[in-house]
Amino acid sequence: MASRSKFTSRIEQAFDFAGRQLRHLIETYPDYFPMYTVQGKWKHEGEAWTNWCEGFLGGQLWLLYQYTGDSWWRDKAEHYSRLLEHRKTDRSVHDLGFLFWPTWKRWYDITGDESINQVVIEAGKTLALRFQEKGGYLHSFVAQNSLFIDIMMNVGIIFYAAWETQDAHLWDLAYKHCMTTRRTLVRGDGSTAHEGIFDTDTGEFLYQSTHQGWRGDSTWSRGQAWALYGFGTAYTFTNDSRFLVTAQMCADYYIERAPEHGVPPNDLDEPNPALPYESSAAAIAASGLWQLASLVDDPDQAQTYREYALRILNTLLTPEFLAVETPGWEGILKHGIYHLRKGLGVDESVMWGEYFLLEALWKVWNDSRR
Ligand code: GLY
Repeated sequence: MASRSKFTSRIEQAFDFAGRQLRHLIETYPDYFPMYTVQGKWKHEGEAWTNWCEGFLGGQLWLLYQYTGDSWWRDKAEHYSRLLEHRKTDRSVHDLGFLFWPTWKRWYDITGDESINQVVIEAGKTLALRFQEKGGYLHSFVAQNSLFIDIMMNVGIIFYAAWETQDAHLWDLAYKHCMTTRRTLVRGDGSTAHEGIFDTDTGEFLYQSTHQGWRGDSTWSRGQAWALYGFGTAYTFTNDSRFLVTAQMCADYYIERAPEHGVPPNDLDEPNPALPYESSAAAIAASGLWQLASLVDDPDQAQTYREYALRILNTLLTPEFLAVETPGWEGILKHGIYHLRKGLGVDESVMWGEYFLLEALWKVWNDSRR
């Protein structure tokens, strides 16, 4: 593994490259929110399935601003955040954390402007409207009987809104969502299911299922990354050690199952996958593991998570993944997969892969300056 300072200069090169790609994207396709590339190009007519990732473009622009301090990025970040404001009342998706945490929350943290905070809070309250009393979970965009592991990455915005407004009801339902997810989607060995199906009349949990993974009883790699990151975040809000233990179990399963270089295929359990990589899962895992390292008490455990996060990032910064040596490719990170079964964004750049790669690099770079 490269020494810390060598690695820091690789991060700086990656940020320079990301800046060039993002500038090209927003200048070539102004006010366009891409989701995944098709043969390396952002603008196409491919299906979205659901509109969940518009916050990741503004989020990258905020990260570029934080990294460079350049007001050009700040103007663009504010602009792309403003374009999302109306989504604070969007009841059609379960992704308001993905939309508002990388954008408006970051904006609020930088400015302390209460009117910006109110937008984050309203988004959290809107997301809470998906709560199913019977079953005790926030339902996915698919249907009321459906719980997704992905929602663990969004529930934090409800904890936040509850804390800011001192609303015990909101806090309680966010807590119940995490407990239900832990009970129904996290298995005894730390692997996770993508989806849980409930009986909406009785609240009874029926079975595990999947949309984007291999099978209902297998482990969709991105879902596993959402889980290790999301349960860690739930712990930061609640201080409930059950969530920390769950995050660690999920992290350990990822580490045990992923290849040596840290980038898994689309599913951690599928034998002989057709494609070797789902790079966005690795980027999410790197950022989540970096957070987890700061949460655990045991220094050896922390070191394991930190080193594994760096191992993933070392892999993702090679030209096999970072598109530095792929002329004409408009994304930053290659070899992501959005929805394998539907054939959407397969072996392409995906917006959340770009965002979580930059987020993880930002955390490592920022921590190296302390
Ligand atoms: N939340 C959708 C995904 O991870 O693809």
